[in-house]
Amino acid sequence: MRKVFVIYVVVQLWLVLILHPNNAALLKFTNARCRVHNASWVKVNLCRLKALSRNRTVFNFNATMLYPAYQIWMDAQLLKKANGYKPWLYNASADICRFLQKPFNPVIILFVKAIRNYTNFNHTCPSVGPLIASGLHMPYEKLGIPFPTGEYLVKLDWFYHHRKQLSTDFYFLVDEGILNTTVIPNKRF
Ligand SMILES: *[C@@H]1O[C@H](CO)[C@@H](O)[C@H](O)[C@H]1NC(C)=O
Ligand SMILES: *[C@@H]1O[C@H](CO)[C@@H](O)[C@H](O)[C@H]1NC(C)=O
Ligand SMILES: *[C@@H]1O[C@H](CO)[C@@H](O)[C@H](O)[C@H]1NC(C)=O
Ligand SMILES: *[C@@H]1O[C@H](CO)[C@@H](O)[C@H](O)[C@H]1NC(C)=O
Ligand SMILES: *[C@@H]1O[C@H](CO)[C@@H](O)[C@H](O)[C@H]1NC(C)=O
Ligand SMILES: *[C@@H]1O[C@H](CO)[C@@H](O)[C@H](O)[C@H]1NC(C)=O
Ligand SMILES: *[C@@H]1O[C@H](CO)[C@@H](O)[C@H](O)[C@H]1NC(C)=O
Repeated sequence: MRKVFVIYVVVQLWLVLILHPNNAALLKFTNARCRVHNASWVKVNLCRLKALSRNRTVFNFNATMLYPAYQIWMDAQLLKKANGYKPWLYNASADICRFLQKPFNPVIILFVKAIRNYTNFNHTCPSVGPLIASGLHMPYEKLGIPFPTGEYLVKLDWFYHHRKQLSTDFYFLVDEGILNTTVIPNKRF
């Protein structure tokens, strides 16, 4: 935990150093996929991206939790495209019910803060009934970690009561093209 926090602080400093306050890198969802592993637990009514402009897509999600979940675990894997998607930088797991009671992981806190307003999942466990995300998007500035230009995939697996019930995959691209101020000395080729 402490190690994660130290890495996070270092990354934050890096971010402050290389990003100017008025830059505008772009993060855009390009695809979203949901897979249900046990239809008697969760029913997904809607899992779709909607394009609002050339630069912005939002994620709309509507599912029904058919059983009250008191124990929710999430595995997150981040991949970057390079001859197919390869694991990149970060894997994380979180005890969601514990997190909702008392947020602990700084990276997840940042992430949750950024998306909280677009979901109805802002209460403590159990989670039962409708699970809604509406107009969800993630501005690059809210990421908290610098992402180089490229295509990414974040895979989230949701375990309710120790069984994988739902997978949500988000494809997105980052374009820091107008982030033109970074000078990388001693660049090797
Ligand atoms: C799906 O969930 C129900 C309710 O917990 C359980 O009874 C059933 O065994 C599960 N099915 C599978 C394939 O895991
Ligand atoms: C899209 O973002 C680019 C920079 O990434 C910007 O130059 C352009 O004006 C934006 N277009 C719209 C429609 O927001
Ligand atoms: C979610 O989907 C269900 C079933 O299609 C529907 O009855 C409900 O109104 C939807 N909720 C929202 C907030 O769109
Ligand atoms: C993340 O986990 C996957 C599968 O468990 C593993 O293949 C991958 O190497 C891990 N990635 C990182 C960055 O640790
Ligand atoms: C979420 O909504 C609250 C209240 O409307 C607002 O103060 C806050 O800035 C919003 N947060 C984000 C990340 O949009
Ligand atoms: C959770 O979200 C709902 C709907 O967006 C809102 O009405 C409610 O006040 C929120 N509750 C908390 C504890 O933030
Ligand atoms: C970005 O950098 C290139 C060369 O490195 C330069 O020609 C261009 O003018 C820069 N663009 C901006 C908006 O600063």
